Amino acid sequence: MACNFSQMTCFFIFLSLLLVVCFGFSKAQKVPAMYVFGDSLVDVGNNNYLKISLAKADFPHNGIDFLGKKPTGRFSNGKNSADFLAEKVGLVASPPPYLSLVSKSNKSNAFPITGVSFASGGAGIFNGTDELFKQAIPLTKQVEHYATVYDNLVQKLGSASAQDHLSKSLFTVVIGSNDMFGFFQSGSDVAKKTTAQQYVDSMVLTLKVVLQRLHDFGARKYVITGIGAVGCCPSQRNQNKDECNEEANKWSVKYNDALKTMLQGLKLDLKGMDYSYVDVYNVFARFIETPSTFGFTEVKSACCGLGNLKAQVPCVPVSTYCSNRSNHIFWDLYHPTETAARIFVDTVFYGTQQFAVPKNVNQLITA
Ligand SMILES: *[C@@H]1O[C@H](CO)[C@@H](O)[C@H](O)[C@H]1NC(C)=O
Ligand SMILES: *[C@@H]1O[C@H](CO)[C@@H](O)[C@H](O)[C@H]1NC(C)=O
Ligand SMILES: *[C@@H]1O[C@H](CO)[C@@H](O)[C@H](O)[C@H]1NC(C)=O
Repeated sequence: MACNFSQMTCFFIFLSLLLVVCFGFSKAQKVPAMYVFGDSLVDVGNNNYLKISLAKADFPHNGIDFLGKKPTGRFSNGKNSADFLAEKVGLVASPPPYLSLVSKSNKSNAFPITGVSFASGGAGIFNGTDELFKQAIPLTKQVEHYATVYDNLVQKLGSASAQDHLSKSLFTVVIGSNDMFGFFQSGSDVAKKTTAQQYVDSMVLTLKVVLQRLHDFGARKYVITGIGAVGCCPSQRNQNKDECNEEANKWSVKYNDALKTMLQGLKLDLKGMDYSYVDVYNVFARFIETPSTFGFTEVKSACCGLGNLKAQVPCVPVSTYCSNRSNHIFWDLYHPTETAARIFVDTVFYGTQQFAVPKNVNQLITA
């Protein structure tokens, strides 16, 4: 044989590095990479690799509207917000789940230059939320996973190029709903020990440390979402005579306000830090208040599940599902449909200050 396999491999790695270094990224692609942290709203399959977890979605009817009608681990009938955000910034697809890249069956040992997803269904700002769902990757653990990817990138590109690459990349953090559910679930231990105000303040403070740590590892551009109107999701309505749990909504708004204030301060503290705070609450409140504007005819009930509001049993294979997914806000007892996720991302990408402050996501990446 004229050429040696490892020499060829070396040559191709060299060639691809050269392409990246010399030409940056393709024009349609607006950021060099996207790194995703968070919970089931953006999990694209990390939890498929967890052995025991109640927070899984790698079975029907999840994915019924996904390419090939395939359950992928997304808690959705189709794509989720991470997919739509990836499309908006010009990536071919959502960054792949970290655990798929380091799993025993995957010997490639390579992290794609365009980003990785660390998000895990059931995850919260506090480690404890994984107790509620038996197993999840808490936010602090997700950041440890990112540190591995960071080290790898520095090795590959060298420190200066890696910093440059990361400073233009998007760091998306979608977290907090599970902490809120944990507090408001009946018989919650933590609610007996702390007031809601203390809990919310502690959530924001803990998240701040995480965002600082990401900054230490090169993050500069953050997309941070608040918490949605969690009190109006089918699981909460089902426990509240089909009405929204106003207490949970009230504290979600308080958390969001505290988060916004924290981010303003953080931007002054962290060199080069910039962000778009995305107001999930306002977007979903509009869905619920003026559903017809968006083509929604069902705002209370989940599409997939069983029992009252299809919220007594989650979306598991024995559950039934609605025939028209585009007129439902909720896919299952906790999660939005693909349609709701798409409109959400459209709204915050180009949206006004009502939905994203101090700038929208498009302004963040072109800044
Ligand atoms: C294995 O890792 C490679 C390189 O990062 C990736 O392209 C591929 O999709 C991974 N395979 C699976 C099954 O996730
Ligand atoms: C979560 O657990 C990790 C590792 O056990 C620990 O380092 C971290 O401080 C914990 N974080 C919180 C918010 O409790
Ligand atoms: C499904 O719902 C959407 C949005 O309300 C509507 O435009 C469409 O016509 C519906 N499809 C069917 C087959 O009823």
